Amino acid sequence: MIIYKTKDYDDMSRKAANIISAQIILKPDCVLGLATGSTPIGLYSQLAEWHHMGALDFSQVTTVNLDEYKGLTKENPQSYYYFMNENLFQKVNIDKNRTFLPDGTEPDSEKACRQYNEILSSVGTVDIQLLGLGHNGHIGFNEPGTFFQAETHCVSLTEQTIKANQRFFASEEEVPREAYTMGIKTIMSARHILLVVSGEDKAEIVKKAFFGPITPQVPASVLQLHNHVTLVADEAALSQV
Ligand code: F6R
Repeated sequence: MIIYKTKDYDDMSRKAANIISAQIILKPDCVLGLATGSTPIGLYSQLAEWHHMGALDFSQVTTVNLDEYKGLTKENPQSYYYFMNENLFQKVNIDKNRTFLPDGTEPDSEKACRQYNEILSSVGTVDIQLLGLGHNGHIGFNEPGTFFQAETHCVSLTEQTIKANQRFFASEEEVPREAYTMGIKTIMSARHILLVVSGEDKAEIVKKAFFGPITPQVPASVLQLHNHVTLVADEAALSQV
């Protein structure tokens, strides 16, 4: 694992955006695995800015997102599709037909997951998979106790994740209780994994996940077994290591 310690959130965002940008320049038709959440917002905004300046061309890029809430439509401002559109897709020249997320509107979980696995196989190996880190060590919506061999599946959100995500909703009751997520096996099949982490509140889990034992209780700890992981984290997030 390569670790880049950055001064702060902005520095983290710029460094991570540089890594993604280099990937797009080296392989214009690359497949990017993307994440939502608050951590990648700065890096998406940096990528959009470079695109605006004429320095970055997304026209041949394909994207696959980690996860989507079950039951939310693309038009719902809390859906991950909406988030991606707001923060990246509509700001760059990506072909929307090449942007994929699990279908949150498909009520049949088995069907939704099967369809997403088919999409993932058809786009080919993910060149860079971007990940954020949950306070309990989750990656995607793979919560503690996750099965390392899982592909796309439907999960029930833990109370901790519901509480953490509540800030995006009007009330806790509105946070969906289920989500479709790429599994650990899917995530681990990416060529390169880029993890972004910021803030002191993540310091403890950073230590546990990357400097502690590999265990399904800390899903991100599995990344210690991947041969190409880049962690870009600010000083605060690395303050316990
Ligand atoms: C988002 C995702 C989640 C987040 C994680 C960290 O698509 O899959 O695993 O990456 O919850 O979220 P933030 O960045 O908001 O702390």
